[in-house]
Amino acid sequence: MNNLRFENIHPRLVLKQMKPYSPGKPIWEVQRETGIEKVIKLASNENPLGPSPKAVAAIQSYLGDIHRYPDADTVDLRFALAEKLQVTAEHVIVTNGADELITLLSETFLEPEDEIIVPSPTFSEYEFGATLMGTKVISVPLSEGYQYNITDILNAVTEKTKLLYLCSPNNPTGTYLPRTDLYELLEALPSRILVIFDGAYSHFVTADDYSDGLEFVRMGYPLMVTQTFSKIYGLAGIRVGYGVAAPSLINSIRQVKEPFNVNALAQIGAIAALKDDAHLEATRASNTKGREQVYALLEQLGISFTKSMSNFILIKLGPEAKSIYDQLMSKGIIVRHGQGWNLPEHIRISVGTSDDHLAFIEALTSILEKVELEKEVSKI
Ligand SMILES: Cc1ncc(COP(=O)(O)O)c(C=O)c1O
Repeated sequence: MNNLRFENIHPRLVLKQMKPYSPGKPIWEVQRETGIEKVIKLASNENPLGPSPKAVAAIQSYLGDIHRYPDADTVDLRFALAEKLQVTAEHVIVTNGADELITLLSETFLEPEDEIIVPSPTFSEYEFGATLMGTKVISVPLSEGYQYNITDILNAVTEKTKLLYLCSPNNPTGTYLPRTDLYELLEALPSRILVIFDGAYSHFVTADDYSDGLEFVRMGYPLMVTQTFSKIYGLAGIRVGYGVAAPSLINSIRQVKEPFNVNALAQIGAIAALKDDAHLEATRASNTKGREQVYALLEQLGISFTKSMSNFILIKLGPEAKSIYDQLMSKGIIVRHGQGWNLPEHIRISVGTSDDHLAFIEALTSILEKVELEKEVSKI
């Protein structure tokens, strides 16, 4: 086809600044590239126990009805969430994954002259949504040990600040914002700033001084809590996320969303998953145990890492990190390299099954031995 026909059609200039999201590689792609059948994926913080069996059964029993449009208002799911979270159904919006909600929030609230504050390193979609709207992103580096520093965050506030994102536990560091800090921050911020508290990994936290933010929504602070069914509920493939905030904020977002943004199977599956306490508890227990196992294995190897309240662990491997990441991939172990977060000396691994961890450590050990050997040889 003649490309000349299209050269006068220009996308928005802002697209030039946008980095495409780089997801964890899918298992099939690594199987195809390496020829390895047993590929282990520890790259996207998915549930190693699989989906909630109750969700799977509900989806299967609904399949004969998929010729119908889904409920545009996700009424049953919003009521189920409201009951669980002790808010009203008017406080809840359901979206096609939490990712969609981040884009909707950007489209609803951001003007080009606004600013958003993003403690960094963190989940890249906050920046993506703001850049899409032409809004400036103010990054506030996390402090020592990737801890939140509320003074630094408050110092970054200007007249133009519109949204503040707090990811807690934070992706990719696994660190979190203690309840007292969240409270202090909410008290100190001007009420014209909407705080987005991304609790995608809330369910994995075991620290006593953590807040998932919902109590502050109930108290009436200008805060939206976002969550997802992709992680602890194991439903990443059907895309369901949600936000909880004051009804007036929710109504503004509803003006922007597409009518049928959440498909019928996602709605049915999520409602069933919410009732599956056994699956949720088993996942949480397996994750807590899994984190400890990974810590112990890394300590044996003398590798430094950041203790995590989530279902992933940030590991520091040094200047060889990218090469080690590539070698892990060639051995059929998919993890995430830190480059996208400007952490080129790190990888992030998801907490998986015990067998996954052992396979990862075995591969890592043999790669590190090879790296050491090469260093020795280069000295000769
Ligand atoms: C912090 C954070 N927020 C939101 C999401 C998006 O979740 P979803 O799969 O619901 O779009 C992710 C996914 O990795 C995440 O890490």
